[in-house]
Amino acid sequence: MDISGKRAVVFGGTSGIGLAAVRQLAEGGAQVIAVSRNPDRSQLPAGVAGRACDVLDREGLQGLFADEDPFDIIVSAATGGERAVGPFLEMDMDGFAGSFDKLWGYANVVRFGVPTMSQDGTVVLVSGAPARRVKPGQVAIGATGAAVESLVRSIAPEIRPRRINVVSPGTIATPMFGPDSEGRDQALAGMTKANLIQRAGTADEVAQAIMFCVTNDFVTGTTVDVDGGWLLS
Ligand SMILES: NC(=O)c1ccc[n+]([C@@H]2O[C@H](COP(=O)([O-])OP(=O)(O)OC[C@H]3O[C@@H](n4cnc5c(N)ncnc54)[C@H](OP(=O)(O)O)[C@@H]3O)[C@@H](O)[C@H]2O)c1
Repeated sequence: MDISGKRAVVFGGTSGIGLAAVRQLAEGGAQVIAVSRNPDRSQLPAGVAGRACDVLDREGLQGLFADEDPFDIIVSAATGGERAVGPFLEMDMDGFAGSFDKLWGYANVVRFGVPTMSQDGTVVLVSGAPARRVKPGQVAIGATGAAVESLVRSIAPEIRPRRINVVSPGTIATPMFGPDSEGRDQALAGMTKANLIQRAGTADEVAQAIMFCVTNDFVTGTTVDVDGGWLLS
């Protein structure tokens, strides 16, 4: 897909990976709408419109897609809600269930966005390396990410010729780990020291993979890993 002049809606487009995707889409000439619950807190690139919507609000999403029709590209990097960490046998089960808000948000975006998008339209979701290699304490995010990847593989045949793919990041330096600071850098260095590539990734490196999935018309139903070698570490 040549994205010049295409219309893109990016959920979670006001921070981290989603914001990096917004920038790269806009630089490629797409008309971009960045969506999150509080888009006013973000510094969006010139020409990018911000719009408030919670991906868990189905009615709100349907209204948004009706307003923004026609559109060609959907990216969702919206985290959804909180995530539970820790051993499963000590897990707070409300927290575990709440971790799946990320899945419900993605499912809502696909369910209500795809029916009105163009026939050559394309969707990219963001899972996470624990989907296929869980480290201690990551049962909830592992199970959620695996469900996201399965959802994408299941939906791809149904929505063709539109395409859908998922990008799976490893540890990425974004506001998800708090504001940019020396303490955050140290924490991320500790988390990534056993990886093949011993550093956190950048949001731009993940957005490059999102752009690959958006622009390569021969790619659908698959997962692209951008994880510094997490799966082999
Ligand atoms: N950073 C990593 O190391 C890493 C690793 C693996 C996977 N991931 C995944 O990558 C995705 C992006 O993460 P990130 O690091 O870029 O996070 P981030 O910097 O915290 O950004 C999250 C974005 O999602 C929006 N958001 C959260 N809940 C929402 C909701 N219910 N409805 C609409 N928007 C919502 C936030 O804006 P508002 O608060 O304004 O709503 C924000 O724009 C997430 O799915 C995350 O799980 C990240």
